[in-house]
Amino acid sequence: MNASNCFKAQNAAGDIPIILISGDDYSSWHQEQESVTKNWLIQNAFKPDAGSWSLLPGEDGGISACILIYDDLDLWTIAALPSHLPEAVYRVHGLNNEDQLYRLALGWGLGCYRFNRYLSSDQDVMLPTLLIESDTLRDKIIAQIDSIGLVRDLVNTPAQDMMPQHLSAAAQSLAERFDGQFTEILDEELLEQNYPAIHAVGRASVHRPRLLELQWGEADAPRLTLVGKGVCFDSGGLDLKPASAMRLMKKDMGGAAHALGLAQMIMAHKLPVRLHVLIPAVENAVSANAFRPGDVLQSRKGLSIEIDNTDAEGRLVLCDALTRAAEASPDLLIDFATLTGAARVALGTEVPAFFTQNNNLATELQEYASDWNDMVWRLPLHEDYRTQIKSKIADIVNSSKEPFGGAITAALFLESFVEEDQDWIHFDLMAWNLRDRPGRPEGGEAMGILGLFAMLQERYA
Ligand code: BES
Ligand code: ZN
Ligand code: ZN
Repeated sequence: MNASNCFKAQNAAGDIPIILISGDDYSSWHQEQESVTKNWLIQNAFKPDAGSWSLLPGEDGGISACILIYDDLDLWTIAALPSHLPEAVYRVHGLNNEDQLYRLALGWGLGCYRFNRYLSSDQDVMLPTLLIESDTLRDKIIAQIDSIGLVRDLVNTPAQDMMPQHLSAAAQSLAERFDGQFTEILDEELLEQNYPAIHAVGRASVHRPRLLELQWGEADAPRLTLVGKGVCFDSGGLDLKPASAMRLMKKDMGGAAHALGLAQMIMAHKLPVRLHVLIPAVENAVSANAFRPGDVLQSRKGLSIEIDNTDAEGRLVLCDALTRAAEASPDLLIDFATLTGAARVALGTEVPAFFTQNNNLATELQEYASDWNDMVWRLPLHEDYRTQIKSKIADIVNSSKEPFGGAITAALFLESFVEEDQDWIHFDLMAWNLRDRPGRPEGGEAMGILGLFAMLQERYA
């Protein structure tokens, strides 16, 4: 998807107004209308509930306007419209400022998203477009939507076409587009350069494991490091997942997709940071040379890791990447991962969990997230649970025997690989919508990065 197709700068042929009416104002608005409009709405049994909308007929039988009833003017207010309105150019009326237009247009653009790569028809469906006259505003909106579109596309793409080499190509083309540097450490080089855990998890796949690295920005700017779990397919390894749990595991590179999508936002907006993106990209496959339950792996940090369950692979690839990230002492380190089912049990699939030791950072993030209708929720790095990941034969074990608190023990595992004084945020997220909502179709989804980006803009601007 190319978000620039969802918007127009100007339109000589005239545009159709989208008239926003608050639910409370509807009856007085209705009173003031010509009888043709009044009757149309009555005959159509129009109910002025928040989110309801209707086209209005013009005298010549054309469309004179689209009315939409709202409760709050936010990101999702007009997100349903692009998939329903006939192809034409539309303009939002009744807004007070550019910020409102920005938020509504963002929702519009997200509502234009289609994943049609594998459809033989639907390639050329023409969508309605929204008029945004200001070039700078339009560019800003398009950059955000394209970044979220990138996350969705990467996650939606089946594992057959989104293996480590494909993720690598995506990271490389992103680096080239913004004049960044791309490098990768491939297969045996992972062992030579001391990334033993990444190699162990990925070694059973014909799609060779790698650590992708993207750098961008001025050398003297504060370093911001993003790490994303890039498990391109998670079969569970030898502790194989049951079919129902494996069904969606093409999305297990969702963390990597988030890191790349947020990186794109940051680079498109030229945020004054020295950006460092690290993505361990592997397939957790089954083969004769797969790592096993009971094995003890080495890690870059020097901690030995007993494998209790090969399905707890995300934390293994992340620990080497986090160690590498922390070696450069970034100003802020953020990781994204579809790490545990337990985080979904705790918060459901639509609210990402985040962890940080820094209370101010947590409060700030929560505030920006709620301002952007992009809910995230903090879970504690509760030290008392660390006993659950103690091993008798190694420094740490990769999964707890207890069925409770799995998102927390996974986060504590990662914390062992981050320096104590390092500002760090860990996201455990779903990266997938199980249901359709306006602007948020079923399938791959960016979660938490709109709020996070707003926070980063404030922190570094
Ligand atoms: N990729 C999964 C976690 C996952 C599953 C995230 C479903 C979102 C939705 C991860 O690698 C995994 O399998 N984790 C295990 C850990 C367990 C073996 C300790 C889990 O959560 O069950
Ligand atoms: Zn797993
Ligand atoms: Zn996984």
